[in-house]
Amino acid sequence: MRMVDLIEKKRDGYALTKEEIEFIIQEYTKDKIPDYQMSAFLMTVFYEDMTDEEITALTLAMADSGEKIDLSSIEGIKVDKHSTGGVGDTTTLVLAPLVASVGVPVAKMSGRGLGYTGGTLDKLESIPGFKIELSDRAFIDEVNKNKVAVIGQSGDLAPADKKLYSLRDVTATVDSIPLIASSIMSKKIAAGADAIVLDVTTGEGAFMKNLEDARRLSHTMVRIGELAKRKTMAVISDMSQPLGKAIGNGLEVVEAIETLQGEGPNDLLEMCYVLGSQMLVLGEKAETLEEARSLLEEAVSSGAAFETFKNMIKNQGGDESICSQPEKLLTAPFKIELPAKKAGVVTQLVANEIGIAAMMLGAGRQTKEETIDYGVGLKLHKKVGEQVEKGESLVTIYSNTEQIEPIKEKLYQNIQIGEAADKPILIHEIIT
Ligand code: URA
Ligand code: CA
Repeated sequence: MRMVDLIEKKRDGYALTKEEIEFIIQEYTKDKIPDYQMSAFLMTVFYEDMTDEEITALTLAMADSGEKIDLSSIEGIKVDKHSTGGVGDTTTLVLAPLVASVGVPVAKMSGRGLGYTGGTLDKLESIPGFKIELSDRAFIDEVNKNKVAVIGQSGDLAPADKKLYSLRDVTATVDSIPLIASSIMSKKIAAGADAIVLDVTTGEGAFMKNLEDARRLSHTMVRIGELAKRKTMAVISDMSQPLGKAIGNGLEVVEAIETLQGEGPNDLLEMCYVLGSQMLVLGEKAETLEEARSLLEEAVSSGAAFETFKNMIKNQGGDESICSQPEKLLTAPFKIELPAKKAGVVTQLVANEIGIAAMMLGAGRQTKEETIDYGVGLKLHKKVGEQVEKGESLVTIYSNTEQIEPIKEKLYQNIQIGEAADKPILIHEIIT
């Protein structure tokens, strides 16, 4: 096989075979296919699209390109969750211990944030001592013992995806549905999931800016999950405004602690109940979504979910005292309020711009090499649809410096106050 012939075949609108796709991924991973040919191929896929069979072959070839985690020594059905990303998305910190406390094992590998705000790993690392690196053995033992562990993605998991993603990033081929779908699903499959719950976000703060694209991506991932013999479903959720009220690493751990005690923001708690119910049904701990939901509500009100969170922190080396004194995580020297310039109803909180404001404070990375400041971030006091008085604080800004005029300016530009607004829909659709 020659790469140039395969590029031509795809360019002329023909579907590639499984063997041809495997050839491309294997040779590219071994550096036998140069980046210029791969770039041409990616652009062809961008314009010509792929069939479900092609995307499935691509996904499995990428999953096979490196280490695959064997979770078979963990008892029960391993259900993984993946979010396509958002601003202030504190879900995993709440959901992992919540679902585990009801008995579904959660062996989760998470990533760092590449966008404006930190990823789950960055948030966990804001807890002093918390270890995100465990050997495979320790990871599995931990899940068998406490039902949950959250660690960093192993370096050799789907190396083809890592290489391809870097190339896509510089060739304007990131936002292609077959490439996104195969990228996400290859990592979930290599990480050993039996079943997969996808949270596909849509809106200003998401990859998929509109519902139609989110729907296409969801259907594609659900179909390739099924073709790869993993039970898969997707929830399309709203990311036009940030999720919850905290954006920033330490702040989001505090928000997770409050939510696990039933005192967090409604949208975050609801999101966790919706995703968690699906995980319980896929994990065969409940027969119906209603039954699943009442198990989750019970785990919050009884304190079982919070207890599991505390054990997870302790067992992974973290300072447990933050569970009773979460304010220890809020280390920023300045807390600056942002008063509303007029009275009215909040009509818009532009998620991505607010994420950028948090990044400017130091809560996220502009480049991969940058370090994150765990103590800084934003605490929103008003979400879309809520009433505000003139002079009332819209946001508390946790900062390292008092010189934050550009950040205040950005926030004012992206928090609109008007006459009236509907509360945005949190869950748009569920796709099975
Ligand atoms: N997330 C991924 O893991 N891959 C993509 O291509 C896009 C989002
Ligand atoms: Ca949040």
